[in-house]
Amino acid sequence: MQQPRRHINILKMSKEYKRTLITTALPYTNGPVHIGHLAGVYVPADIYARYLRLAGRPVTLIGGSDEHGVPITLKARKEGVTPQDIVDRYHKLIKESFEQLGISFDIYSRTTSKIHHETASEFFRHLYDKGEFVEAESMQLYDPEARQFLADRYVTGECPHCHNPRAYGDQCEACGTSLAATDLINPRSTLSGAVPELRSTRHWYLPLDRWEPALREWILEGHKEWRSNVYGQCKSWLDMGLQPRAVSRDLSWGVPVPVEGAEGKVLYVWFDAPIGYISNTKELYPDRWQTWWKDPETRIINFIGKDNIVFHCIVFPAMLMAYGDGFQLPDNVPANEFLNLEGDKISTSRNWAVWLHEYLADFPGKQDVLRYVLTANAPETKDNDFTWRDFQARNNSELVAILGNFVNRVAVLTHKYYEGAVPPAGDFNATDLAAIAEMEQLKTSLTAKLEDFHFREALKDAMGLARLGNKYLQETEPWKLIKTEPARVATVMNLAVQICASIAIAMEPFMPFMSERMQKMFAIRQLRWDDIARTDIVAPGTVLDAPELLFEKIDDSAIDAQIEKLNEAKRKNAIDNWKPAPQQTPTTIDAFGAMDLRVGTVLECEPVKKSDKLLRFVIADGMENRTIVSGIAKHYKPEELIGKQVVFVANLPEVKLRGVTSQGMILSALNADGSLSVIGPLKKASDGAQVK
Ligand code: 2FM
Ligand code: ZN
Repeated sequence: MQQPRRHINILKMSKEYKRTLITTALPYTNGPVHIGHLAGVYVPADIYARYLRLAGRPVTLIGGSDEHGVPITLKARKEGVTPQDIVDRYHKLIKESFEQLGISFDIYSRTTSKIHHETASEFFRHLYDKGEFVEAESMQLYDPEARQFLADRYVTGECPHCHNPRAYGDQCEACGTSLAATDLINPRSTLSGAVPELRSTRHWYLPLDRWEPALREWILEGHKEWRSNVYGQCKSWLDMGLQPRAVSRDLSWGVPVPVEGAEGKVLYVWFDAPIGYISNTKELYPDRWQTWWKDPETRIINFIGKDNIVFHCIVFPAMLMAYGDGFQLPDNVPANEFLNLEGDKISTSRNWAVWLHEYLADFPGKQDVLRYVLTANAPETKDNDFTWRDFQARNNSELVAILGNFVNRVAVLTHKYYEGAVPPAGDFNATDLAAIAEMEQLKTSLTAKLEDFHFREALKDAMGLARLGNKYLQETEPWKLIKTEPARVATVMNLAVQICASIAIAMEPFMPFMSERMQKMFAIRQLRWDDIARTDIVAPGTVLDAPELLFEKIDDSAIDAQIEKLNEAKRKNAIDNWKPAPQQTPTTIDAFGAMDLRVGTVLECEPVKKSDKLLRFVIADGMENRTIVSGIAKHYKPEELIGKQVVFVANLPEVKLRGVTSQGMILSALNADGSLSVIGPLKKASDGAQVK
């Protein structure tokens, strides 16, 4: 695929577009948001919006909650509350945690709002009146006990593709295939557990096939510069051939279908959700929202995760084309891949996630650290992994050791030599000029990468400014010259302060909280992207605030606590999903009798050297005592077992484990959470007694 043509892009944007509308996928309000959502959508969108604002380009950042859909109603049922209670709870939590993370939405609204219901309803009605829908009867699954049709996640069953037994009626999470509820093998209602029956029902379909030629032309010919994952996914959908898609459901939670005789039917959540971008713009700019959607000089960018590509690149554009009336299509859809957590897929239902609201509570004042790590590790071209150890290492050896250290050194030296007043610069020498040239080159590269949505690489360039600053101080060594060449030191310190000022600007999109502290520290009044690399951002004589550390080290205990939290989630999940192992193939009484099981008392127990798993036992077996080595050190402390009676297998061949000869095996039960419980008699038995 063709690569984006960077210079042409920049030119095109500054010349042809007057404003940029940035939308962010509206998160479902059936749970809080986690780091996967942040890395995939909200942090990159915020970086881009902040960058455009600094560059003086008009921009609006749209966000909001997606409050319809079956998972919300299922959660409400489970908790015995209303769907409105659920969405109120999570909308508030999500909105507040985005604010605390510094996501600079111009509006964060919701799809249960009156304005959204009206907008979505009008949108549907307009298409209906224009004859853009096909109305058809089809056979759908119906729960005879709950007396309702079963849309999407109201049904589970076996996936026809990968045979995962727990696929949903809209998607199989194991293989990622989109499904229709009627595709499932052995479907079951999630409401009553009943076997559903097929009944006929009437729905409205958007005939995507009608829009296929236009979509082909628009994407495959017109947007070769899109990310290859986005372009590739669109191409494969288009090559498979588009089918009509139902845009209504038999449900009570959602935007009612505004057509006579459509009682009990609502708009499909994926029909109303993207219209939420329009409703939220309307709510923000009641008088001029149309300029942001219909003026060809507006550029629309949709930030989403890869699971939303088809809806944003195919379905919503088809809806907009069908509507007509000047609605603009997105100019780019920079979808990210997925972020995994400690090697496993993030999962809300398995609680395998780092939840934003919990992070904010556990790491107060460290919003920028999370923003930094998620950007440095952003899943832009492939799935990536977040680990707590990497989080710690990036904080300690990048933010503290490189960035914080440089800024602190400059502030401390300025206070030490000049009582905080920035000295005037004299003539620059070759070292200074080389540093300035490198700053300029980093600025050019950083800007081009932001324009191309390569935020991860852009952050590397911004960090390059701090690396450059450290190198400059190392080369010029002002501390060695302060007595002998004070004029030279004044120039060096002035330039070092200007590098700090450039960092404050360049880092603002990535780490706005840190940038704000730097602006205060270096008395920078107005941030302008263009000023990066200038040598006169901070005027001589400006008195700097007292130096403060921008970042602090994160110690092992904070990280261990997070890893333990995840381990706890894993244990709980294992217990919740545990089923006893299936019964083994039949044996015979003779085969059982061949095993010599006996009771013995633990006389000694101690860890085996150089092993964290093994314990060495001396067991009183009624004969000559015996040594047994057992792999249960993670489950018992030696002193818990000394004096206790255990059951062991007495007639196994001897084996050597870590240099110790073991004469048998102690029996344990393997529990749901993976722990072991040693087996012993319920009342005292004779040492050496056989288990029959
Ligand atoms: O995948 C999701 O979380 C959806 N709620 C995204 C909706 S994006 C837009 F269409 F609103
Ligand atoms: Zn599957």
